[in-house]
This record gives sequence, C-alpha cells and structure tokens, in this order.
Amino acid sequence: MARVFFISPFYLSFFIFLIFSYVAIPILGDEYSYVKQADPKKMGIRKEKLSHFRFYWHDIVSGPNPSSIQVVASPTNSTTAFGLINMIDNPLTIGPKLSSKMVGKAQGLYTSASQEEIGLLMIMNFAFTDGKYNGSTFTVLGRNTVFSKVREMSVIGGSGLFRFAKGYVQVKTYTFNTTTKDATVEYNAYVLHY
Ligand SMILES: *[C@@H]1O[C@H](CO)[C@@H](O)[C@H](O)[C@H]1NC(C)=O
Ligand SMILES: *[C@@H]1O[C@H](CO)[C@@H](O)[C@H](O)[C@H]1NC(C)=O
Ligand SMILES: *[C@@H]1O[C@H](CO)[C@@H](O)[C@H](O)[C@H]1NC(C)=O
Repeated sequence: MARVFFISPFYLSFFIFLIFSYVAIPILGDEYSYVKQADPKKMGIRKEKLSHFRFYWHDIVSGPNPSSIQVVASPTNSTTAFGLINMIDNPLTIGPKLSSKMVGKAQGLYTSASQEEIGLLMIMNFAFTDGKYNGSTFTVLGRNTVFSKVREMSVIGGSGLFRFAKGYVQVKTYTFNTTTKDATVEYNAYVLHY
C-alpha cells in the first residue's frame, strides 16, 4: 500500500519544476522584454492644452512657381475628376495675402475621392517653421467637399510640440480665382496637445 503513495524526491522536484516553469514565464514577462513602462512626467506630459491656430493655406497651381502640382490626372471623364492627385507644398500665412508672414507649409497631397460631388481626400503634414513651433508638425487627414461653406477634417497626430496631438480643422474658402484656379483657404485648427 505504501508503494502507491511513494514519490521519489527526484520526481517531486521535477513535478514542481514543471508547474513553476509553466506559470513563471508569463509572470516574469520574458517574452515582452521589449516593452517598458514609461514615465509621463519625465517625458513632459503633464497638462493637456487646447491651441487654436488660424492661418491661410495657399493652393497655387498657376504661374512659374506652383506650390500644388497635379501628379496624376483623372483617368476617367468624370465631372468630379475622380482619381486626380495633386502633391502640395502649400504656404501657410498668418494673413490672407501670400505676402503676409509665413509660419509653415502644408505638405502632402489631395485626391478626388468622390464620383458624385467634388470631394477631396486630404493628407497633409502642417510643418511649422516659426519660432518655438519650428520643426514641429501635426497631421491633418479628412474629407474636403470644397464647395461646402465650412469643411471639417481631423488632426490625427503630431511631432515635437504636437506629440499626442488630436483635434480638428475647420476650413473656409477665402478666394478662388476661376481663371488661374489658385485658391486661398482659411484654416482654423483646434489642437489638443501637451
Ligand atoms: C473620355 O471621353 C472621350 C471623348 O468623349 C472618349 O474618347 C474617351 O474614350 C473617354 N475616356 C474614358 C476613360 O471614358
Ligand atoms: C528652424 O529650424 C531650422 C533647423 O533647425 C533652422 O535652420 C531655421 O533657421 C529655423 N528657422 C527659424 C525661422 O527659426
Ligand atoms: C485671377 O487671376 C488673374 C491672373 O493673375 C488676375 O488678373 C485676376 O484679377 C484674378 N481674379 C481675381 C478675382 O482675383
């Protein structure tokens, strides 16, 4: 009878090893050695603030120095130019005049993404060059139905002073020259950042 309950010390320790090795790996987290908790305070992440920027965005397609260049023509005869792609490096100025102070550039592209109306998909990094914002960027992505009075797009992230940014922009056409097709658009950006 005693033989039934007898377990040699070797088997016992082997058994214990099996149990602990199975449990220990997830607890010690060896497989996640590439992740560490970061300290938000050490990274300057304290109080979130909301900044409101207003500037004018210039889409210059005419003349010898366009800032906006068509890189793909619409492959269809669609009246909405479906499929068109323009690459932009558009100046952002504090006043509606192109000659007013430039604070950065809107770099990216817009593409005609609607077959029913003029509806653009815009993908832009707002790259600042002014003062403390110099070198910082935030990214705007959204839908722009250019003939609507006010359009809204998302601020989906940023770099430098705009790390962890989120927010939105509201945009209104200020002038559109039907001859040259150049446009000046007022941008009001509301950005939450640290
Ligand atoms: C666009 O229209 C022209 C003239 O009507 C026609 O020759 C051409 O095939 C059309 N292209 C497409 C992609 O529908
Ligand atoms: C912005 O930063 C760049 C690179 O550090 C520098 O060359 C440039 O002079 C700065 N511009 C302004 C307006 O401070
Ligand atoms: C449009 O641009 C043309 C060429 O630069 C200019 O002569 C005309 O005055 C502009 N129209 C408006 C409404 O600004």
